[in-house]
Amino acid sequence: MQQLVILTGAGISAESGLSTFRDTDGLWQQYDVMELASIQGYRRNRERVLEFYNARRSNLLTVRPNHAHEVLAELERDYQVTIITQNVDDLHERAGSTHVLHLHGELTKATSSMNPNDPKCVVDRPLDQAIAIGDKAADGSQLRPFIVFFGENVPNMSLAAQIVQQADIFVVIGTSLVVYPAATLLRHVPKGTPCFLIDPGTFDDTMVRGFEHIQTTAVAGMDLLKEKLRQLRS
Ligand code: APR
Repeated sequence: MQQLVILTGAGISAESGLSTFRDTDGLWQQYDVMELASIQGYRRNRERVLEFYNARRSNLLTVRPNHAHEVLAELERDYQVTIITQNVDDLHERAGSTHVLHLHGELTKATSSMNPNDPKCVVDRPLDQAIAIGDKAADGSQLRPFIVFFGENVPNMSLAAQIVQQADIFVVIGTSLVVYPAATLLRHVPKGTPCFLIDPGTFDDTMVRGFEHIQTTAVAGMDLLKEKLRQLRS
């Protein structure tokens, strides 16, 4: 089976009702990213950061996967699909995708403030169970969201790059490609690999040279994507 590798961002969850970050109504238009999503911000005011992520965690309970998530899960019938996502929601998994690699963490998990990437400290945390000051991780430190904060390294980057290097087809859906190192994954796509970008926005050509841009929303773009994939198979 051909390796279909898909890089997703907040845009694929927009039609499920989750805010993106940099659209006009995005999270970082309403909140200060350095206060709420950076390691410095967490160290300065843990309560404020826990409150922000507890709100995002309980909000995730109220939404469901959309048609785009569902189509990507269905594509596992015809391809070896790996989704590399910058999203911290679990909508790909809830839609049925079985190979999902999260670059920036997962709202459904919690970890240690002292050793956030120690697998012994990463635990599932039901979305309706807030993380409070005084909750402890396995190493005795304050429990925190299993989120990669700005200023921390991205442990899954090298694995993600290896996966992209194996792609027979590469698709980017719903990311502004402005956050590093995630955006550098495009440099790992093998030469000559068919590449598609599904996003209603506009992009600097240098960033997405060689991509066929399906300039629409994730949901509307799914039928077009399936047609393009069919053409590649014929
Ligand atoms: N369908 C597809 N794409 C959409 C839709 C939609 N319905 N709505 C918006 N988009 C696109 C926007 O045009 C934009 O290109 O989704 C992208 C959203 O970009 P960002 O808000 O920057 O989100 P993302 O690229 O995922 O951010 C990357 O930044 O703050 C960090 O850790 C956070 O993982 C996040 C990272």
